[in-house]
Amino acid sequence: MNRALLAATLAAAVAAPVAALASAAIIQERQAGFKMMGDSMRAIQAVVQAGGPASAAVEPARAIAEHAPKIKTLFPAGSDQGARTRALPTIWSDRAGFEGRADAFTAQAQALLAAARGGDLGALRSALEATGQACGNCHRPHRAPER
Ligand code: HEC
Repeated sequence: MNRALLAATLAAAVAAPVAALASAAIIQERQAGFKMMGDSMRAIQAVVQAGGPASAAVEPARAIAEHAPKIKTLFPAGSDQGARTRALPTIWSDRAGFEGRADAFTAQAQALLAAARGGDLGALRSALEATGQACGNCHRPHRAPER
């Protein structure tokens, strides 16, 4: 084997596992982000059920609103494997649809934060429901059922 070919072969042998590690890390990072959003949604639900005050929902709503715009960046090409993931291939085959749903969710998360800051419990309840629907609008086409 000549030197250039040897170098290329070694580079390829190293690159594949490195890519798999990077992919596993990003899969874990996005799952942790979704889990945090799930916990935050439950915290806001608890505020609504307790009858307020809506201001108690500001912190979890802020956590969701700040994370929402990052979702699109957590699904780079190739991150459909490398760790256990429920991400469906439609995320990459219908990228425009996926990003549109992520953007719609981000707008709704900002409305949820505004409702929490506004202090009106009825408005908070409606915004919470609309936010839960925006989660589902992405899960239905892009997330596999739990196994
Ligand atoms: C733009 C699309 C999109 C939006 C918006 C979205 N999700 Fe997800 N969610 C996904 C995908 C895709 C997965 C699977 C990720 C994986 O396994 O790699 C997922 C996974 C999850 C998980 C499982 C995480 C784990 O531990 O494996 C939870 C919980 C979750 N989402 C909650 C939510 C909640 C709550 C919202 C709204 C507040 C939300 N998601 C909004 C696409 C979305």
